[in-house]
Amino acid sequence: MGLFIVFEGIEGCGKTTQIELLGRYLAGKKLPIVITREPGGTPVSEEIRKIFLHSVNRDILPLTELLLVTAARVQHVDQLIRPALHDDKIVVCDRFCDATVAYQGYGEGIPLALIFKSQELFLDYLRPDITMLFDCPVEVGLSRSRSRNKAEGLELAEGRFEEKTVQFHEKVRGGYLDLAKREPERFTIVDAQQSIEAIHEQVCLAIDAKLKEKGYAV
Ligand code: TMP
Repeated sequence: MGLFIVFEGIEGCGKTTQIELLGRYLAGKKLPIVITREPGGTPVSEEIRKIFLHSVNRDILPLTELLLVTAARVQHVDQLIRPALHDDKIVVCDRFCDATVAYQGYGEGIPLALIFKSQELFLDYLRPDITMLFDCPVEVGLSRSRSRNKAEGLELAEGRFEEKTVQFHEKVRGGYLDLAKREPERFTIVDAQQSIEAIHEQVCLAIDAKLKEKGYAV
């Protein structure tokens, strides 16, 4: 029943570029794909994204973050992800539940048990089939991400997390690596400091192997 691929990593790890490249690669194989992102992916979830990421909302509480991102996800799962998987599509999503564990749990300090419980209650155990984790030093990712936001004029509208401290982002990075250690069969860790081409090659190898395992002709 479809294939659910998620890309994760700290700010500026290059996952969005890699999603575009993977999208082209899979479309070239005439496979049915849907590319989406979190928070976002549906009209309501994109509205929540604006509140979630805008720098003006600096005083947002960690628990409010958890509730906002969960609300966006419930809408996204129900209206886009599950229907697409049900239609046997390959869903490629920029971030999903692990981002909440890494950012709101490891980063903001919300107890992990509460986050896992909310995922169990509201998302009915939907899990990615494969999660590609793009790992790089925080300084490298943050400087890429801050300069991209500046170039695209998104410093205010999407800059709330880029304003957080290096220590916060170190915790997020450590959280992702912990999650990958807990579920090595689901995660593939990619060194995000390699060239774009080398990373793309590694992504294609991992995704091709998963597609074969799931019975797709690749
Ligand atoms: P991105 O689209 O550039 O990845 O930005 C999304 C931001 O939202 C990023 O800073 C991580 C943050 N985020 C969370 O804090 N929790 C979540 O559950 C998700 C999906 C994203």
